[in-house]
Amino acid sequence: MKNIAVLVSGGGTNLQALIDAQNGGTITHGKIVTVVSNKADAYALERAKRAGIETAVISRRAEGENFSHALTEHMKARSIDLIVLAGFMSILNGELLREYEGRIINIHPSLIPSFCGDGFYGLHVHEAALSYGVKVTGATVHFVNEVVDGGKIIMQKAVEVRDGDTPETLQRRVMEEAEWIILPRAVEKLCAEM
Ligand code: GRF
Repeated sequence: MKNIAVLVSGGGTNLQALIDAQNGGTITHGKIVTVVSNKADAYALERAKRAGIETAVISRRAEGENFSHALTEHMKARSIDLIVLAGFMSILNGELLREYEGRIINIHPSLIPSFCGDGFYGLHVHEAALSYGVKVTGATVHFVNEVVDGGKIIMQKAVEVRDGDTPETLQRRVMEEAEWIILPRAVEKLCAEM
């Protein structure tokens, strides 16, 4: 059984998908042992508590230069094997990336290399897809390195763009049809292979 840490900042629907996959038997080779938020008011923390998972708040604002070290220490103390960024809105650097190279993954709401990199987060990603006029978008699970959204791709799933879509309706469809499906699958695959 691999020890999984999930890093969150917001609503935590991707965290919920992981919790459901763990309870439903889709994730069998790993266990979420800690959920870390960089925001104290993230609703994702409530989801973790409800599932009986330990929570912690580690923020760049409080930690400053020590942020990466504080996260690394938290992971080491729990023998974490895999770190999953699930809507984590702070860019990681330094010690954590070195110590956990090849063991940190992220879910991005587009088909990388489209609509990714600096500034492409949240609704901006879907606004960009709609304004470009693509007919297919999707989600990507990838490894995290020092290049934003630049690590090796692990899994992708395509989602149709429909006439009349708004950034909000497209975001929802990408979550339902892609993110919530491939993130648990990728986590299980990596845990099974480790
Ligand atoms: C998702 O769209 C994810 O792809 C992106 O941030 C959003 C997080 O949503 N990185 P949630 O907190 O999992 O609901």
